[in-house]
Amino acid sequence: MNEFESAVNIVHDSLRRMREEGAALRASASSLRALSAAAPAPRPPRDKAARIAALRERALVCQKCPHLARTRRTVVFGVGNIDAELMFAGEAPGVDEDAAGEPFVGRAGQLLTKIIETMGYSRGDVYIANVLKCRPDTPPGSPGNRRPTPEEMATCLPYLVEQIESIQPKVLVALGGVAMEGLLGDVRPMRELRGRWHAFRGIPVMATYHPSYLLRNQSPGEKRKVWEDMLEVLRKLGRPISAKQQGYFLPK
Ligand code: URA
Repeated sequence: MNEFESAVNIVHDSLRRMREEGAALRASASSLRALSAAAPAPRPPRDKAARIAALRERALVCQKCPHLARTRRTVVFGVGNIDAELMFAGEAPGVDEDAAGEPFVGRAGQLLTKIIETMGYSRGDVYIANVLKCRPDTPPGSPGNRRPTPEEMATCLPYLVEQIESIQPKVLVALGGVAMEGLLGDVRPMRELRGRWHAFRGIPVMATYHPSYLLRNQSPGEKRKVWEDMLEVLRKLGRPISAKQQGYFLPK
């Protein structure tokens, strides 16, 4: 991102907050023209690895949510292959991810790794990130993780957007309702969203249940639903599907 784009992002963030607080905002045609005239000529796109490395550097020192910056142990930026055809987006780091600095390493993460491997990939073949890069804070001593607030998601989303736009995966999988809300603003229940194609800036998005949902609901029927979503992803990517893969979690 060049300096002009960073400045526009700051202005955009402030305008969004003002609008959320009820301000009626209008930009005149002449100010829009003046703004575009002031924009420097676009630079050739920077090398993808350099763009992601620079984004990571910014995320690691981010203070946009002071309460999360205060309580986090690490910033959990994302992991995997920046040339991946397949990218997964979850909601936010939990306690294990906050300790490790890597997304999806706890119990839900181990299940996600299993799903990825059953699809025929290794974890290092794909890219994994979250809507929120910091663990949502919880009162000291309280167990478990908290759902990110809409405000936290909106504040952090530009990092995920730039990850997606840099990586340009052929398919994105949104893991759970929070990922769908954060990424697409879609708050419909997951039973309505999963198994269907959505789109984020032209990239097909498959919505499926979060692996932690499967840890709570271990019935073969629910596992099959997620697996069918993943088969759909494999079809979209033109990947071969074996008879064994086709049959997982079907009633015997
Ligand atoms: N759940 C998520 O959504 N993301 C993680 O990184 C871990 C658990």
